[in-house]
Amino acid sequence: MRIEGKEYRTIWFENDIVKIIDQTKLPHQFIIKDLKTVKDTINAIKMMEVRGAPLIGATAAYGLVLSILENNDKSFLKKSAENLINSRPTAINLKWSVDRMMKKLLGVNSDKILDIALKEAKEICEEDIRFCKNIGLNGLKVIEEIYKKKNRTVNILTHCNAGWLATINWGTATSPIYHAHRKGIPVHVWVDETRPRNQGANLTSYELNEEEVSNTIIADNTGGILMQRGEVDMCIVGTDRTLSTGDVANKIGTYLKALAAHDNDIPFYVALPSSTIDWDIKDFKDIPIEERNSEELSHIEGLDENENIKKIRIYPKKSNSMNLAFDVTPAKYISGLITEKGICEASSNGLRKLFK
Ligand code: MRU
Repeated sequence: MRIEGKEYRTIWFENDIVKIIDQTKLPHQFIIKDLKTVKDTINAIKMMEVRGAPLIGATAAYGLVLSILENNDKSFLKKSAENLINSRPTAINLKWSVDRMMKKLLGVNSDKILDIALKEAKEICEEDIRFCKNIGLNGLKVIEEIYKKKNRTVNILTHCNAGWLATINWGTATSPIYHAHRKGIPVHVWVDETRPRNQGANLTSYELNEEEVSNTIIADNTGGILMQRGEVDMCIVGTDRTLSTGDVANKIGTYLKALAAHDNDIPFYVALPSSTIDWDIKDFKDIPIEERNSEELSHIEGLDENENIKKIRIYPKKSNSMNLAFDVTPAKYISGLITEKGICEASSNGLRKLFK
């Protein structure tokens, strides 16, 4: 997708270096960062310089390439794989991508391993782009339907950033929006700010602006009243882990939006590539929910009057705070799962029909 008119992907490999867009600096600074070691990739994932389920999966795949470049030794590779999987707990794409890489690499001789690793990491990225594009084409049909019925701008609410910055290109939740926009369907996006890290305000609004898609940032608690006023036609969110039951773990606050959408009879869709499906866990209470540093709540970063990035404390020093990063939306509140293979019911039957 475009930044200042130039096409970018979120991650690429050049001269034995992994290049990323440092998302902790957006929207104020656009900085391309070099990752040179597997430790660099683990830090980038932990610090959320790269984030979003598909993108951290792709970063982990390139992390294994860097691990081989550093030390072409199987026990080092296994340790790297373990550390990458543990770098963030909720998004299943990390494990999915590391397992896929290791399956290709473990039985391979050391003289061939680098080429095979690089080829597979690139294929993970290419596949994600194809899947996200198809998610867009499938989700476009829902937007088209609403447009045909209402014959006016379609208002879509989204949470967090499930945009191209969370994937390699296109995004998951944003892909149908970009496809609709390019087809000339008038769309407007309500962007949940998404406290505490503000991925909605800092990343989703930024990328929609760059693609010239009309959008308005709202505080996280605003969605409910907009739905009551008929100002939301549909919700589309992403997911970090979708169970085979159709239950969906996504950024904290997604569940409350789904409840409000249900109460107001507004379709609530979840967009995902199949790499985000966890076929093993059956009970959503078993999904590991990431708890991040409470400083993400107590402090906030922005530009000061001299346009320098500054971090300030916003809570009393003595106050405790708790920072759960994800919640789970039960399948019963989800109108449909938009995948690369089509749209299905959020249920084991629905998913099984699409993915044998
Ligand atoms: O903590 P983050 O910013 O990595 O969380 C991202 C989300 O919750 C996204 O909605 C999710 O990864 C879907 S990505 C296409």
